[in-house]
Amino acid sequence: LTPSPRWADQMCTYDSRTEILYTDKLFGAHVCGQQIFDEGWQVYSDDRRYYFDCLMAPHASQVSTALEKLTEHPARLYATGHGPLVRYGLQELTQSYQNWVEQQKKQDNSVALLYASAYGNTATIAQAIARGITKAGVAVKSINCEHADPDEITTAVEQSAGFIMGSPTLGGHAPTQIQTALGLVLSTAAKSKLAGVFGSFGWSGEAIDILEQKIRDAGYKFGFDPIRVKFKPTDQTLKYCEEAGTDFAQKIKRQQKSRKPRSSVTESQSARTEQAVGRIVGSLSVVTTQKGELSNAMLASWVSQASFNPPGLTIAVAKERAIEGLLYNNDKFVLNILPEGKQLHKRFIKNYAPGEDRFQGIETEEAENGCPILKDALAYLECRVSKRMECGDHWLVYAIADSGNVFDPDGVTAVHHRKTGVYY
Ligand SMILES: Cc1cc2nc3c(=O)[nH]c(=O)nc-3n(C[C@H](O)[C@H](O)[C@H](O)COP(=O)(O)O)c2cc1C
Repeated sequence: LTPSPRWADQMCTYDSRTEILYTDKLFGAHVCGQQIFDEGWQVYSDDRRYYFDCLMAPHASQVSTALEKLTEHPARLYATGHGPLVRYGLQELTQSYQNWVEQQKKQDNSVALLYASAYGNTATIAQAIARGITKAGVAVKSINCEHADPDEITTAVEQSAGFIMGSPTLGGHAPTQIQTALGLVLSTAAKSKLAGVFGSFGWSGEAIDILEQKIRDAGYKFGFDPIRVKFKPTDQTLKYCEEAGTDFAQKIKRQQKSRKPRSSVTESQSARTEQAVGRIVGSLSVVTTQKGELSNAMLASWVSQASFNPPGLTIAVAKERAIEGLLYNNDKFVLNILPEGKQLHKRFIKNYAPGEDRFQGIETEEAENGCPILKDALAYLECRVSKRMECGDHWLVYAIADSGNVFDPDGVTAVHHRKTGVYY
């Protein structure tokens, strides 16, 4: 019926006799359990959303085209290539895909992500960068140059606020499709567009140097330093790439903000509402995680107790936050509640560069759940994520506190007072 978005050589196939749609990558989830069908489909909702965000969001327009085509072929079962077959939650999942695609299409800004990949390494890096961009609220038009025609490339570049190019090095060069795409980009893209370059290589990596040099010589500014990855990227490298993508998106959003005229109405109703929202207070805390070789920390004040039994709490985490990807169901973290007067939070306020160590110069000890405890905290809780709820530009993470301790029983919790709800 239609190519599977991103994997153009894999097709969605419809069997009209059984009304089964073999969706290949579409509608999948990276879940591998005993269950063949999706009974109790709600339990898969988070996994399906994560799968969409990572793999489908950068191909939103192709997903949209595929969804349109599929409406002509009513299916009673989606036989997916990954995860349980979709029988019970089919309508809801289809509707969710439509909503998520619309969300992507409605974004004010987009980035054209052009790449080629012979063995999949550069494609994996592209995917991590794309995830970093989309989680910051900027859409991605991801194009595998091996399957794209020139019009598709120039249109995507023209319509985007930035472009990022990725290439493997093969025989000391970039593949022909990348050289062609580079020519199209340099002749199409306005000089104000933000640029980025990445690629996987084996020993010399000329393709990345060529891309960087030509784009720099043409006068474009880079949104992140060129990313060079030897062969297969590690988890840490992929996290770095995701953070570089988020940085790139934030720069684009800042550029756009500075171009927008300021509203002359200062005392409007919405300003008063913002001021009132700002009077909500939360305790200043630092969320710390360690998952395999990945560690992260985030200053948080939108923290609240949420249940007596089990002892539970919520934390609002911005969708673009680097730590967000380490706070999925069953992930562990420590909530470090800060004491008044010590100014410990200032250590965590800065803007971190991609991959920067959040714990440099900070004294920590390891909690039983493996995450860092800040030695200067007033108290800490060892937590486990139980649920996530999507709330506009944040995820509300509900977690159970498995254990905890107070370091200073006479200490007072630092509380963050504000005058407006438009900042933390
Ligand atoms: C035929 C061939 C030629 C290659 N030539 C180079 C080269 O000249 N320089 C280099 O740094 N790596 C070279 N490599 C290594 C690839 O760049 C490396 O495997 C990279 O991870 C491929 O990225 P991809 O998975 O995105 O295709 C070569 C690999 C193959 C198979």
